[in-house]
Amino acid sequence: MNNFSFHNPTRLHFGQGQIAQIANEIPPSARVLLLYGGGSIKRNGVYDQVIAALAGRTVVEFAGVPANPEFDTLMQAVELGKKGKVDWVLGVGGGSVLDGSKFVAAALALDPEIDPWLIVGNKTPLKSALPIGCVLTLPATGSEANFAAVVTRRETQDKLSFKNPVVFPRFSVLDPSVITTLPPRQLGNGLVDAFVHTTEQYLTFPNEARVQDRLAEGILSTLVEIAPALLKDQSDYAAQANLMWAADQAMYGLVPLGQPLDWATHAIGHELTALYGLDHAQTLAITLPNLLEHTFETKQAKLAQYGRRVWGLSGDDTDVARAAIAATRDFFESVGVSTRLSGYGITDVAAAADGVRAQLIRHKRVALGEHGTLTPDDCHAIIMQAG
Ligand code: NZQ
Ligand code: ZN
Repeated sequence: MNNFSFHNPTRLHFGQGQIAQIANEIPPSARVLLLYGGGSIKRNGVYDQVIAALAGRTVVEFAGVPANPEFDTLMQAVELGKKGKVDWVLGVGGGSVLDGSKFVAAALALDPEIDPWLIVGNKTPLKSALPIGCVLTLPATGSEANFAAVVTRRETQDKLSFKNPVVFPRFSVLDPSVITTLPPRQLGNGLVDAFVHTTEQYLTFPNEARVQDRLAEGILSTLVEIAPALLKDQSDYAAQANLMWAADQAMYGLVPLGQPLDWATHAIGHELTALYGLDHAQTLAITLPNLLEHTFETKQAKLAQYGRRVWGLSGDDTDVARAAIAATRDFFESVGVSTRLSGYGITDVAAAADGVRAQLIRHKRVALGEHGTLTPDDCHAIIMQAG
């Protein structure tokens, strides 16, 4: 196990009715910039609960943060926040809204001489951000309890992340019952994203980090167990609660401690979204099974452990490892997320592979994987298998 330091300052309020906790978290005198997406929160009652909990505070609303939050749109929110002299940011939505809230909170505290685009990709140091609160409506990204955010700039085909402890939310509300209104496509996305966050921090090589391995296996097994229940009945509260907690824990920060990490699937996936506008989790489902095949030799030991402990497979290490990859692909397909480019109408596989390779080179992501040996040519080969 490698050395590590760990700190997570976000207070989590988990369970039904917990949106009311906002009243205890945001001071009565606060001027709050309320960010949300395309309106799902108005249809499922979350908006009404949030407004009730904010009673007495000055609220400035910004609606319309898009999926894969767009820099230009977020800058409109920054302008609105400046005009409204806000001193808190409250994001209510999925990962896109929460990531957008982190960017806006950082941009509002930035020296006005500095171009806010430099926040993205960590090209300028951040001294502070406005305090951030989150109400999660889509369990997937873990953005509600981490210090990462991903912002897209369509005109330049950039989808880049930034990480900074100043954007840790002060608090987040996780009410699992919000899952009831998720479109099936977003439920599938949530299951796949949480799954791949866990594998990226676990399917590397054995490193004597036994607790972290078993945390990862617990999260993966839970996702596999609850998926059929949710596909049958999205309002099954026990399954909702376990999905929301599993997705949170996948990105909370405990799973990767002391472990080698492989974020190559996410790196490739972000380029696919930048090029084709695919949902984040769709890009992961396309990439991961082929990446595991491509890196089979180096990952074989952990793949065999994963196959035995998560999928209950038995037999020779090589056979178990291969069967574990097949089970992973089948799982993604079973929750309605295609693992093939053709599943999203992309038929020119060579163009997709060329595009991903060029984008990775442009973004200097040229030494990926837990050994830093996965090159843009390897990523090209991985996408060539995804037709
Ligand atoms: O916009 P609204 O109307 O709210 O609808 C949203 C959106 O259309 C809808 N939705 C969310 N909750 C709902 C709901 N519909 C009905 N009922 C509900 N309860 O779902 C759609 C997708 O939402 P979005 O926020 O885009 O999805 P997700 O949570 O998957 O977030 C994806 C973004 O997060 C980034 C991704 O790259 C992508 O930009 N990620 C952030 C990470 C982080 N901060 O740590 C890590 C991840 O790996 C990921 O990269
Ligand atoms: Zn992800």
